[in-house]
Amino acid sequence: MEKFYITTAIDYVNGAPHIGHAYEKIATDVIARHQKQRGKDVYFLTGSDEHGIKIQKTAAALNMTPKQLCDSNVAKFKDTWELLEIDYDQYIRTTDENHEKTVQKIFQKLLDKGAIYKDSYTGLYCSGCECFLNEKDLTEDGLCPDHLVKPEEVKEENYFFKLTDYKEQLKEYVKKAVKPEFRVNEVLNQIDDIRDISVSRSSETLQWGIPVSGDDSQVIYVWIDALSNYITAIGYDTEAPSDKFKQYWPANCHMIGKDILKFHSIYWPAILMALDVELPETIFAHGWITIDEQKMGKSLGNVISPASLMGTFELQNVDPIRYFFMTTTPFGKDGNYSDEDFKAKVNSDLANNMGNLLNRSLSMLCKYFDGEIKPEFVSDSLKDKALQTPPRVLEAFDNYAIEQAAEAVIELVNDTNKYVNDNAPWTLAKEEKWQECGQAIYNTLETMRHVAVLIYPICPNIAQDIWEQLCCEGKVSEYKISELKWSDLKIGKIASKETVKPVFLRIDSEFAGDKKKK
Ligand code: ME8
Ligand code: MG
Repeated sequence: MEKFYITTAIDYVNGAPHIGHAYEKIATDVIARHQKQRGKDVYFLTGSDEHGIKIQKTAAALNMTPKQLCDSNVAKFKDTWELLEIDYDQYIRTTDENHEKTVQKIFQKLLDKGAIYKDSYTGLYCSGCECFLNEKDLTEDGLCPDHLVKPEEVKEENYFFKLTDYKEQLKEYVKKAVKPEFRVNEVLNQIDDIRDISVSRSSETLQWGIPVSGDDSQVIYVWIDALSNYITAIGYDTEAPSDKFKQYWPANCHMIGKDILKFHSIYWPAILMALDVELPETIFAHGWITIDEQKMGKSLGNVISPASLMGTFELQNVDPIRYFFMTTTPFGKDGNYSDEDFKAKVNSDLANNMGNLLNRSLSMLCKYFDGEIKPEFVSDSLKDKALQTPPRVLEAFDNYAIEQAAEAVIELVNDTNKYVNDNAPWTLAKEEKWQECGQAIYNTLETMRHVAVLIYPICPNIAQDIWEQLCCEGKVSEYKISELKWSDLKIGKIASKETVKPVFLRIDSEFAGDKKKK
């Protein structure tokens, strides 16, 4: 069985999750579910990034220990992923004992191999922040943006990783691994400018982190700690990697936001090269979600949590949220959320097109044929259209073009709606052309069976609902795309007035508009 190992970025848990975090987890979940439908042995990893000065400071301000703060926020992230039906296999925390131990071993191995060396580091230190700042984060006048004071130049001993040793290999790697392709050049340019990177901090300036074993004066700085999660989670070990590691590594896809592409496409592969570990197949940088065309941020007060979105629109399940975010923009580009776009999109695609098509076809089957599919109804009018769709969906997912996969399904739905209108089963019934009427309904319902399977990764609840209303056996989640053949719809009674119900209720615009989020 072919394997597929996919990971998300691990979230900083110094606050609660918002829809930007959710966007990435939804996309990863959709891809994981799709790959399962292709019969692959999928492993889906997500988790939390818990060390560092930000957490240390936030916790101190709240009179908590850093670990208490992390525990409390991790619970919020996990609850949100449950709400969004993010079906991950493992949630790694960088405070997990195994992770911490393995990171220390990784650091030691890099030291032993000479990939890490000690040198003095000069940085801009803000005593208010109690940390080093990046030049680019300062105000125009060179001040700390939070404290409006000039940071001091501070010199300390740190360990450095010899990133510059890997320049040429990195360039070759980036050309084939970084997706979407329009990001490749930006990374290649960054490789030209790289310098060795400092990978530890003095334990005087950073306490909340993994200590360098055998050197109390140093704490491992964020990137070796955070990036290593992708291998420590599945049992990497410098001496004896686990069976799980052998099964799943290298990752098929690291799903991350565009802001952390440099770390994932330059630092991470170089660390793996130094460790003699195989490199990930794809590093996919998704775009950022804005709210009403504005950057989301605490200071702007426009942060939206996934839970509040469910509440505002009183959604019965999470499918509309998943559907909206997966279709609002070509995957990889930035996307925007607004209440109006959300309502318009899901009402149009999920209620008016998909839901309504199923509903009216099943209602007609009940009205004219007491819910029974008769053998003579089986016909092929929509066979070609339906069977053209799976290859399009597969190709879209091969390119991580999730929105194109959804588009292919919606196109099939639209074509089917047109087919129903053109064939007008209600007129055929009036004319008592019963076989033709039955055939028109059959074509529609059999197509909807295909639609259920193909829309499943994005809309798992609606898909299962369609599946059950069509009286299909088992769970749609377990049905493989390769099983999709024409005319597998059950013959006999499949529906009755009681079983026919809308799979998605329109979001009532006035009602939703009355109740504002926040
Ligand atoms: O970067 N739209 O954590 P993080 C889309 N711990 N994606 C967004 C977003 C938005 N508005 N805001 C954040 C970190 N993200 C590190 C990662 S991985 C070894 C370490 C995405 O909590 C962001 O791009 O700041 C990143 O991929 C993820 O959420 C976590 O961001
Ligand atoms: Mg970030």
